[in-house]
Amino acid sequence: MGRLKNQVALVTGGSRGIGAATAQIFAAEGARVVITHRDSADEATAVVEALPGDGHRVIQASAVDSDALARAAASVAETEGRLDVLVNNAARSRPIPHGDFDALDDEFFDAIMQTNVRGVFATVRAFRSLLAYDGGGVVVNVSSLAARMAEGSNIAYSASKAALDNMTVSLARALAPEIRVVSVAPGLVLTKFTSTWAPEVRQRQIDRTPLGRLATPEDIGRAILAVATDLTATTGAVVPVDGGRQLG
Ligand SMILES: NC(=O)c1ccc[n+]([C@@H]2O[C@H](COP(=O)([O-])OP(=O)(O)OC[C@H]3O[C@@H](n4cnc5c(N)ncnc54)[C@H](OP(=O)(O)O)[C@@H]3O)[C@@H](O)[C@H]2O)c1
Repeated sequence: MGRLKNQVALVTGGSRGIGAATAQIFAAEGARVVITHRDSADEATAVVEALPGDGHRVIQASAVDSDALARAAASVAETEGRLDVLVNNAARSRPIPHGDFDALDDEFFDAIMQTNVRGVFATVRAFRSLLAYDGGGVVVNVSSLAARMAEGSNIAYSASKAALDNMTVSLARALAPEIRVVSVAPGLVLTKFTSTWAPEVRQRQIDRTPLGRLATPEDIGRAILAVATDLTATTGAVVPVDGGRQLG
């Protein structure tokens, strides 16, 4: 415990699900945690109020609003004065059968790419000088097994996470040696994101997962913590957290 004492972590999309669990795990390790959200202010406030320790706060900043991200970085520079861990967790999706081409319209395709790909780049661009300060930091991009299996909630989502994993490699190269960049790739996790999935779809995933269960948001948060604290010689890599689902 206390491995992140005196450190600051920022979790995008921290108002529920994997982001909220990650905020909780980082705070329990002694970090001051800043979470961002797009429009779920009440949920975000409740998450921060429940965190152990002091100095946590919420910033409203959509991943698709680069000006808001720049303001958020200025605010962290002024208030916390440092950033050690940036968790790019915010993402958009909804289930659309891969064969239903008309349901995946251009507007939603673009919204997914703007949030899940450009949003991560824009967030790193905004926070990179803070991360490079005082011994360097780490960026953890929350990807998905969908990047590798192309089986995600819709075709654009899978493609966005494949693009994200590719960008993790570019960013790792561009930001070394000060900043490590790693993707953490969950399989199916039970959150609001997947709560609308039919029970038989979830059961099919469990049946095809060697460890015989879906990951929890806390499993993913602990993997993100491990990347930040223990995998100190790892950058430009994708760490699967999928119960072995990709083994088939
Ligand atoms: N759940 C799974 O099975 C699963 C599997 C693999 C990968 N993942 C990945 O894990 C991450 C978290 O997933 P989750 O299931 O915890 O999602 P979730 O429950 O839907 O939460 C998504 C979070 O992202 C925020 N968000 C969405 N768009 C945003 C934007 N433009 N700017 C800032 N925040 C934004 C949401 O806040 P607002 O409501 O305020 O927008 C919310 O806090 C995502 O990257 C997802 O792709 C999830």
